[in-house]
Amino acid sequence: MGGLSIVGLGKALPIKTFSNDDFSEFLDTSDEWISTRTGIKERRLCNLEDRYKGEEDQLGLAVAAAREALEDSEIDLNKIDICIVATATPKNAFPATACMVAKELGLSENCMSFDLSAACSGFIYSLNVAHDMLLTKGKDRYALVVGAEEFSKILDFKDRSTCVLFGDGAGAAVVKIDETKAYASASHTRGDDICLISGGVASTRKLSMEGNTVYRFAIGAIEQLLKELVEESKISLEEIGHIVCHQANKRIINHVIRSTKQPEEKFFMNLEHYGNTSAASVPIALKEMQEKGKLKTGDDAYLVGFGAGLTWGGILVNY
Ligand code: ACO
Repeated sequence: MGGLSIVGLGKALPIKTFSNDDFSEFLDTSDEWISTRTGIKERRLCNLEDRYKGEEDQLGLAVAAAREALEDSEIDLNKIDICIVATATPKNAFPATACMVAKELGLSENCMSFDLSAACSGFIYSLNVAHDMLLTKGKDRYALVVGAEEFSKILDFKDRSTCVLFGDGAGAAVVKIDETKAYASASHTRGDDICLISGGVASTRKLSMEGNTVYRFAIGAIEQLLKELVEESKISLEEIGHIVCHQANKRIINHVIRSTKQPEEKFFMNLEHYGNTSAASVPIALKEMQEKGKLKTGDDAYLVGFGAGLTWGGILVNY
């Protein structure tokens, strides 16, 4: 069947950083509470800087991350057959962000472009979809997969239990099938509204979440996904190069490090600086790993994510 290889990576983040102390100026919270409970110190939020107002948004971030990934891949644009943007916060209900990304980047009209909604699991769900769609294409064909979010527009900045957790950003990957590599994937869904943005496309919609319940679900979900990926690929946790988890909470990832008895270095973390960027968290992490020289040609990785839906998914990728 062939595994999934990443041939280009990109990321884009809003200019302005919003620290935990910035929250304590208008909320009953503290850097101490947020850091200890989540590991988050700061996040980037759109439109905080006057000169960027109206320019920094989910679509702009998606385009910038996708452009960087394409440049990094050095492939011909006409070889991209699929463009998927994973997002829960699209700029518009339609046209899909993916259609506008395709337009801005000059992708071919033969490229199928659509958005995918699976909250924080969106990027991994999209890689799974891209893999299966690429199997029907010829050799040397590619998919562009983006995770792009602007959670700041759906956060209730009076709700200290949710607004401190999230950040805005986008990450992107150009992928292809590599017939010499193994493949493994897992995707799951259990309908539940414990993490919810109600009201469809109404502009007043705000996120609500039963954090505790999601926390317990997340730990079980990651452990289940890793077990499934190992079973399918026959690549043990000891053998795999990296385990890249959705960046929601340091305590969740630390729990998995302890339960799997794997070295901490295998689990890249950057949530300290960006918070939970939902569908963008895993590709932003991958790009940073590449930039820091931690992700090298020939490396493999298990990517695992969980989120509203409830959804959870994992995939084996090569770099
Ligand atoms: N500052 C100070 N106190 C706070 C804050 C805050 N920002 N937020 C909550 N508290 C208080 C609560 O009111 C509560 O007070 P009480 O005991 O007087 O009622 C206390 O802190 C403890 O609250 P808990 O919710 O029990 O805290 P917990 O340790 O569970 O941490 C957290 C909360 C960080 C949300 C954690 O549960 C978590 O990370 N959950 C997972 C969230 C997640 O990963 N979501 C991803 C999916 S999201 C998606 O897909 C869109």
